[in-house]
Amino acid sequence: MKIAIANDHAAIELKQVVKKYLEEKGHSVDDFGADKNEGISYTVYGETVGEKVAAGEYDFGVLICGTGVGISIAANKVPGVRAGVCSEPTTARLVKEHNNANIIAFGARIVGEEVAKSILDAYMEAEFQGGRHAERVNMLTDIEKKYSK
Ligand code: RB5
Repeated sequence: MKIAIANDHAAIELKQVVKKYLEEKGHSVDDFGADKNEGISYTVYGETVGEKVAAGEYDFGVLICGTGVGISIAANKVPGVRAGVCSEPTTARLVKEHNNANIIAFGARIVGEEVAKSILDAYMEAEFQGGRHAERVNMLTDIEKKYSK
């Protein structure tokens, strides 16, 4: 799969670990995140990957900050993005099966390397279930439309 990844200064080491993990599994990973503390906010990284995923340039995105929350909120401001914060694999599976999340986020101050890998595996092995979940995802899109100018 083609994956866009980004992180802020709080997640440089974990980003490097998961990027290598994904590449070793045969995925193509484009890195838009920090490799040193450049004073760039998580908001910028979240928006960047959000735009690329929403434009259809990637199969999905991976965002990592201290908690996964700030960077996912930023991405979720981009229309078409459904970013979910996951701290364990069950949520990672369900955000794909039920919410059709196109970005998975987690926190380097919350999860360790092995949990991060299990989150990614659970997300990538899952499939959107459609049906009643598709109706609800369409309702999310309706909210975006309601508030867009
Ligand atoms: C940076 O200190 C931290 O605020 C950021 O990584 C993230 O956790 C924000 O949600």
